[in-house]
Amino acid sequence: MEIHVEQRSLAEFATPLLVVGLFEDADPLGGGAAAVDEALGGLLSRLRESGELRGKAGEIVVVHNSGYHALQAERVAVVGLGPRSGFTVEGARRAAAAAARKARDLRVASYATALHGAGAGGLEPEAAAEALAEGSLLALYAYDQFKHERVANGHEVARATVIERDAARLDAIRAGVASGTVMAEATMTARDLAQGPANIVNATFLAQQASELAERFGFECEVFSLDRIRDMRFYGLLAVNQGSANPPSFVVMRYRAPDAQRTLAVVGKGITFDSGGISIKPAENMHHMRHDKSGAAAVIGFMQAATALKLPVNVMGVFAATDNMPSGSAYRPGDVIQPRGGTTVEIINTDAEGRVILSDALCYAAEQEPDAIVDLATLTGACVIALGHHASGLFGNDEDLIETMLAAGNLSGERVWPLPLWPEYDEQIKSSIADIKNTGGRPAGAITAAWFLAHFVKGRPWLHLDIAGTAWTEGAWGELPPYLAKDTATGVGVRLLVHFARLWAAS
Ligand code: BES
Ligand code: MN
Ligand code: ZN
Repeated sequence: MEIHVEQRSLAEFATPLLVVGLFEDADPLGGGAAAVDEALGGLLSRLRESGELRGKAGEIVVVHNSGYHALQAERVAVVGLGPRSGFTVEGARRAAAAAARKARDLRVASYATALHGAGAGGLEPEAAAEALAEGSLLALYAYDQFKHERVANGHEVARATVIERDAARLDAIRAGVASGTVMAEATMTARDLAQGPANIVNATFLAQQASELAERFGFECEVFSLDRIRDMRFYGLLAVNQGSANPPSFVVMRYRAPDAQRTLAVVGKGITFDSGGISIKPAENMHHMRHDKSGAAAVIGFMQAATALKLPVNVMGVFAATDNMPSGSAYRPGDVIQPRGGTTVEIINTDAEGRVILSDALCYAAEQEPDAIVDLATLTGACVIALGHHASGLFGNDEDLIETMLAAGNLSGERVWPLPLWPEYDEQIKSSIADIKNTGGRPAGAITAAWFLAHFVKGRPWLHLDIAGTAWTEGAWGELPPYLAKDTATGVGVRLLVHFARLWAAS
């Protein structure tokens, strides 16, 4: 779908479907809803009085235009925005997503919409337009490349037009639509890679995709050869890869901002399939472990977004990728390895493999001396137990960075929540035969995993995001926001990192 912006009045725009927002406590009706109400001879007011139109968040009411010439639209969808106070960009994102889904369900080829939340909602027009573009494009995403019966059933909503009467706001709205479109597309890149089946999306495929996107968007991409991986002593990645029939990959991408001083390193876990290895997982949910590369997918998507948005910070994206498989050559519980950086590691459980490959990637990133490092990993089931699906776990060694990431979580709708990294927890991963071991037992499993990573960042400012609970949707999520699809990768991290980089650049 393409999104356009036109300077018009809502009532005079001819369209099969016109979308306007309605605040729950709007009295009298305001904005687009008021204009439509007047053109339809007070229909919306009457629906409000009868309680059929309440403006609750998530509500969407469609009325047909039966011959009112003052309104050119054939139908109107009124999308509920909830209460006016406390309205956020996330509210605008969800309203736009609900409207786009409705347009798809109604099988219209195009629709027009008012901007949600930039009037009474108090949002800046640019931020409201960005959220609108993100929400509507992500809502129409479906992972159906392997289905004969496509989700949209051969039907595509080709065009949405944002209608704005005020000429003074057009530039800001156009800018917001452009950046929101970039963010949605980059998120879809991450979604496609994250949930790609492991027989297709292996470590080599991930590296190839990164190279192709680098070519297309104009960032740098260096794929390390196997010899180089050995020369670099990436013995964590090589240990996990030992059981695999396929080679690992290690990829470094760079976006250089026109005149930025600071560099942000983003590091992703790219386990293309996590069987657990010799410490094999139970069969029941193992198929979900094709999503175990969601961190790497987010890093690749973020490189695309950073370049297309020309973010005001330099970015270095790093990921290490392999599957984690059992075999006669696989690494074993009891093995001692020495990833890059020199810390020796006793392997207790081969299923705690993410931290093992991240040790090399984090160490490499830290050696490049960036001003901040953020890693993303579907690292622990324990994080899902702690926070469920409504926040990623946030860890770090720098309070300012933690605050900035919290704010980015709220702006992006990809919420994060801090867990403590007190030194007492580090005791749990002391090994009797090596410096550290790769599991610290069941208590505080997400925290001891984060502590393991902390041993490889060389004291640099660093954040770790455990996205195990937020990388794909499943039953326990409850009702999904309309820009996420059921049993589908979320692409978490891409939009979060964009907001983080913007806030960090301005701090
Ligand atoms: N990839 C998994 C973590 C995971 C579990 C992500 C469920 C998403 C959903 C990770 O490699 C893993 O297996 N972690 C183990 C660690 C344990 C052996 C210390 C876990 O969480 O059980
Ligand atoms: Mn594992
Ligand atoms: Zn894993």
